[in-house]
Amino acid sequence: MTQLSVTNLLGIKHLNKDDIQLIFKTADHFKEVINRPIKKVPSLRDITIANLFFENSTRTKLSFELAEKRLSADIINFSAAKSSVKKGESLIDTVNNILSMKVDIIVMRHPNEGAGDFLSKHISAKIVNAGDGAHEHPTQALLDSYSIREKLGSVKGKKIVIVGDILHSRVALSNIYALQLLGAEVKLCGPTTLMPKYITKLGVGYENNLRKALEWCDVANVLRVQHERMDIKYFPSIREYTQLFGINKELLNSLNKEIVIMHPGPINRGVELTSDVADSKQAIILNQVENGVAIRMAVIYLLAQQIKR
Ligand code: NCD
Repeated sequence: MTQLSVTNLLGIKHLNKDDIQLIFKTADHFKEVINRPIKKVPSLRDITIANLFFENSTRTKLSFELAEKRLSADIINFSAAKSSVKKGESLIDTVNNILSMKVDIIVMRHPNEGAGDFLSKHISAKIVNAGDGAHEHPTQALLDSYSIREKLGSVKGKKIVIVGDILHSRVALSNIYALQLLGAEVKLCGPTTLMPKYITKLGVGYENNLRKALEWCDVANVLRVQHERMDIKYFPSIREYTQLFGINKELLNSLNKEIVIMHPGPINRGVELTSDVADSKQAIILNQVENGVAIRMAVIYLLAQQIKR
């Protein structure tokens, strides 16, 4: 297989296992490229990409920008806070204005679930979902699985626990789909109030006790408590959350094996992870960030191959 089965990357839900293997194989190549003295290839010299960020982002935005630059694409950046969206412009109008400047690919982060799917029905440019509300964040899940594969040799047969605020997390849903496609076993752990009602339908397990969950797993992917998406209280206090679901070095040292710690960032240090865990050898958090650039290069490169030039 040399082509993706999809024409946009809206979510992992639309991908098959071969798509993911192709993205990983392509990312292997780009990872080698970005470690060369000249970290750049001319592949997308004729492609223009617009990064549309309707919601705050640091690493995802920088990672996409860097990936595009390493592929030699022309890029334009748009962030909602500084745009006409604040003057009441609709999403389709904003995007059509940008497309009339001859843009080939749109990378979009949006606070509303399904924003990318909606847009894909109205425009011809390719769309990469860089996170839509609490729905999907496909490139994050790809880089997470890629980092597990790099660290443990494969994803197949591995036991992964996703800890924390699953309810508000697009990282969790995309991870569940990707890990299952690649043959991992997945459990969720966190306060029951932060578990979505539909989890039983997703074919994943649930463990309320953090110690038991960590004893079971090979990898713990720890999520941020998404305060900005909470309009009610989901747990009594941060202190209690940390006591029950925060990971500290003492807890890790008391397990009978060394597990791998992941986090998509940004970390609330001292809440979901203590600093000595976040900065420990067991944590692959910065490898995840490095792999993010190679994965995003792969996704954009593969989608660009489908554009008639
Ligand atoms: C995540 C996101 O924005 O969904 N971060 C990221 O993309 N690196 C997770 C988060 O914000 O907690």
